[in-house]
Amino acid sequence: MEVRALHKSFGTLEVLAGIDFTVARGEVVCVIGPSGSGKSTLLRCVNLLEEPTSGTVLVAGAEVTDPDVDIDQVRRGIGMVFQSFNLFPHLTVLQNLTLPQRRVLKRDKAEATRIARDRLARVGLTDKESSYPAQLSGGQQQRVAIARALAMDPQLMLFDEPTSALDPELVGDVLAVMRSLADEGMTMLVVTHEMSFAKEVADRVVFMDGGVIVEEGAPEQVIGAPGHARTQSFLSRLLDPAAARISPSDD
Ligand SMILES: Nc1ncnc2c1ncn2[C@@H]1O[C@H](COP(=O)(O)OP(=O)(O)O)[C@@H](O)[C@H]1O
Ligand SMILES: [Mg+2]
Repeated sequence: MEVRALHKSFGTLEVLAGIDFTVARGEVVCVIGPSGSGKSTLLRCVNLLEEPTSGTVLVAGAEVTDPDVDIDQVRRGIGMVFQSFNLFPHLTVLQNLTLPQRRVLKRDKAEATRIARDRLARVGLTDKESSYPAQLSGGQQQRVAIARALAMDPQLMLFDEPTSALDPELVGDVLAVMRSLADEGMTMLVVTHEMSFAKEVADRVVFMDGGVIVEEGAPEQVIGAPGHARTQSFLSRLLDPAAARISPSDD
């Protein structure tokens, strides 16, 4: 995945002010940064849920931003996992996984079911295929959402704060699934506030603030020894929210 000179404005508000970066095949890149810095907008521009104001996005050789691109074809190769799980409440777990395969990839029922069961096993939810989403914990629902994305055989997985809506004791299971995906060589772009996950799993960490990349590099560098004051201040607020001060210099 490659993003070049990406700009996005909503009216007069410039949310992405020139973003350049790449994610190589098999690489895991974590994006960190304060609320409102443009992280979700960046992810949404990658699969054209938002149309960039200017710049280019390439995924697996296809230019997503080419006006003539078959966007459905491109989106098929990109799995997206959101903070909210977006499962169909009236369908069982198994049906949530088979429906998009049958509709979008035109797989027959037997093949879709076989693949769904394989992906459910990968996220540790084999015994939940007949449950409805409301019967599952938030962490289990998020693992179903990940399995659903994996059933589409994506070349790239985008995660937007996948554990932010979960009770703290459920976060670990979801991160464990993501860690195993990374170990299997999945290409992943992950917006997260889980610094220990980013430190252990990311090949690279990107710190965004105010619609630009302030710094990027190895996790031990960006998280362990950040070079910019904005990164340092973000990380110290994250590590110790109670220490935040309301001061006249903050806006
Ligand atoms: N559809 C939209 N219309 C107008 N403003 C938006 C829209 N989506 C996001 N924004 C604004 O863009 C900025 C960045 O948002 P976002 O990408 O969600 O940041 P983050 O994910 O880093 O918290 C925020 O100021 C937000 O209010
Ligand atoms: Mg966001």
